[in-house]
Amino acid sequence: MFKMEKNTPIKPVETQQKQLYHIKVNINGVDYEHDVEARLLLVHYIRDVVGLTGTHIGCDTSNCGACTVIFNGKSVKSCTMFAVQANGAKILTIEGLSKNGELHPIQRAFWENHALQCGYCTPGFIMQAYWLLKENPNPKEEEIRKGISGNLCRCTGYQNIVKAIMQAAKELRSK
Ligand code: FES
Ligand code: FES
Repeated sequence: MFKMEKNTPIKPVETQQKQLYHIKVNINGVDYEHDVEARLLLVHYIRDVVGLTGTHIGCDTSNCGACTVIFNGKSVKSCTMFAVQANGAKILTIEGLSKNGELHPIQRAFWENHALQCGYCTPGFIMQAYWLLKENPNPKEEEIRKGISGNLCRCTGYQNIVKAIMQAAKELRSK
């Protein structure tokens, strides 16, 4: 039978060396290069490695849209991709929207229409609205509702979010 010896020192378990992959990504016009594990999610790369914490994590089921970013011109839930898949990509996050300290018209419209309460979902909604208005600069209300249907908000009831996107669309069309 195994006999426990007194004061036997505990040895660390040998673990396999982590395999890392070198990626190059452009985020908000800035080039980044990092060595990352294959399992690292893009949202964790953006937040924890690059340090841009405006992109939020609101679920672990790919439902909430709080992590939405613009990835090579398309809106993407960044928790549904690995960082290694972003090698060579151009990404826009909420931090890249304002210019010279001026809010982007979509950001301003959210503010002016009280389209947020706790604000947790807001970066995701704004990035989704950004993509929506690039695809369709003059959307009808139903098209906006459909366009943001992958984003969840627990506070606002959505009414003011829709109003804000309509106001932003009008302003962006007049530019
Ligand atoms: S954190 Fe990505 S969809 Fe919820
Ligand atoms: S403002 Fe709180 S979740 Fe949307």
